[in-house]
Amino acid sequence: TDLAHIRNFSIVAHIDHGKSTLADRLIQETGTVKDRDMKEQLLDSMDIERERGITIKANTVRIDYTADNGEKYVLNLIDTPGHVDFAYEVSRSMRAVEGSLLVVDSTQGVEAQTLANVYQAIDADHEIVPVLNKIDLPASDCDRVAEQIEDVIGIDATDAIQVSAKTGQGIHETLEAIVKQLPAPLGNLDAPLKAMLVDSWYDAYLGVIVLVRIMDGTLKKGMRIKFMSNNTLHHVDRVGVFRPEMEMVDSLGPGEIGFLTASIKQVRDTRVGDTITNDRNGTEEALTGFKPAQPVVFCGLFPVDSSEFEDLRDAIDKLALNDASFSFEMETSAALGFGFRCGFLGLLHLEVIRDRIEREYDIELITTAPSVIYNVYMKDGEMIELHNPADMPDPSKVDHIEEPRIKATILVPDEYLGDVLKLCQDRRGIQLDLTYAGSRAMVVYDLPLNEVVFDFYDRLKSVTKGYASFDYQMTGYTEDNLVKMSVLVNDEPVDALSTMVHRDRAEMRGRAMCEKLKDLIPRHMFKIPIQAAIGGKVIARETLSALRKDVTAKCYGGDATRKRKLLDKQKAGKKKMRQFGKVDIPQEAFISALKMD
Ligand code: GTP
Repeated sequence: TDLAHIRNFSIVAHIDHGKSTLADRLIQETGTVKDRDMKEQLLDSMDIERERGITIKANTVRIDYTADNGEKYVLNLIDTPGHVDFAYEVSRSMRAVEGSLLVVDSTQGVEAQTLANVYQAIDADHEIVPVLNKIDLPASDCDRVAEQIEDVIGIDATDAIQVSAKTGQGIHETLEAIVKQLPAPLGNLDAPLKAMLVDSWYDAYLGVIVLVRIMDGTLKKGMRIKFMSNNTLHHVDRVGVFRPEMEMVDSLGPGEIGFLTASIKQVRDTRVGDTITNDRNGTEEALTGFKPAQPVVFCGLFPVDSSEFEDLRDAIDKLALNDASFSFEMETSAALGFGFRCGFLGLLHLEVIRDRIEREYDIELITTAPSVIYNVYMKDGEMIELHNPADMPDPSKVDHIEEPRIKATILVPDEYLGDVLKLCQDRRGIQLDLTYAGSRAMVVYDLPLNEVVFDFYDRLKSVTKGYASFDYQMTGYTEDNLVKMSVLVNDEPVDALSTMVHRDRAEMRGRAMCEKLKDLIPRHMFKIPIQAAIGGKVIARETLSALRKDVTAKCYGGDATRKRKLLDKQKAGKKKMRQFGKVDIPQEAFISALKMD
């Protein structure tokens, strides 16, 4: 296809504003997929994505469209992941296209995620077409939302397209706007191949499938290519496009988006943002902005049943094949036995992997508290990246510790602003900005990532009844007064409960943890001291009193059914516990103990 008849775009939207529904409509309207083949939400392929209503893997589709001017166009839609954890992937996808549809739910308005993604689109120099969706709903208010788009984002929304992705109204206008308003891609057919690796995933039949955007030159079946980040060579077996199912083509030229396969075994061998070129006489200049995936949140995953360790290893190996951004290494914990220390792009990523292990591989897991990476500077000048609080070196040899911080943007209706400010303040936040857009406030905070990874998002949603939206980006490392807090149960340290905390908050956190553990650990036949300590110094203590009678005693021997029920309950509960010395600690204690209310 000649460049003038190609349009490449992505759709920017907040969760639930209708990105997938709109994409499906565009595909349907152009006859790319026959109506009867139209499955609900074509672009969200994985079950887990569908259940959670979020898009994790970037997908793409090529649409043929004959415009009102009679010309035939090829429209390539790249679907970007909709969550903050995948900000880097989003930024790469944005670089692969020239324009964006900015979809805003006209009953809701601009949300934090809309902002984060639209700024990525602006950074990538996109032409942006505002689309107001859900105009079929009575609460739709296009004037208000258009005004808000202008106020908050600063792009002209007077000609925003009014759409109902549900009824199909405005879909034709959207297609015309894509052709008329978005620029055609640029590229040089005669230059050596230069293509961006936009995404990759594992397919059981074809091996690793690599999604590419051709910048210059031609990608052909049979040619030898080089990945510039690590100079690996591959032989191209197949070249194709998505409609949205795969269709093989002979070659892809400048401006085009499609895929290649090259007998690549692991997704790990492909890196998002990498430049692909010819193995000989290739391009000299790689595309800018490439960076290898960096896990930012770490936690331990241990099987509840220690005999399932090998199964867990197998599950993790398989998942890692298909997820280059997930890292792991074996870990032994005195308390939990054998398991893995795993690194994730963020909390959502963690949850997705954990859920998949539990559901697809049927392994019950104990997840230890998520932790960020601390930079620990030793007195001898060495710097250690601390991924696990249990590995904290002897504090007397430590000079200072730095922690990662983030810039968080929160949009919230006025009436909840006070609660949000308090929450941020409680989490050691520093307010950077506070502005208003209509009846909603936009607050920007500098926060320690450590205070956010755990339950910040849950708390934010609960104090604002779900009305706040939240987005963040990492800003860098800052020194602070951080210490390792250990927890001792029955005088034995439970390494899986150690956490890094700010010194000023240690007593409060320690007390809260001991109180929680006291409620979470069942009573035993003996008294159990529960303590929090920094170094050798105990800073909080609770005592779980001994059980005097057995659980069934209070039934006065009367009702046998009730007695049996209680015993069954006890047995079921036991299964989910792990023994620490002489004490049984239930699985949920490891997470619940760390939550702050
Ligand atoms: P993520 O994939 O989670 O990012 O969400 P999304 O932005 O893709 O939203 P999705 O397309 O899944 O739509 C969210 C909900 O809004 C679904 O229940 C849709 O059926 C509904 N929806 C989408 N567009 C319209 C519309 O124009 N009108 C109405 N009434 N509902 C719509």
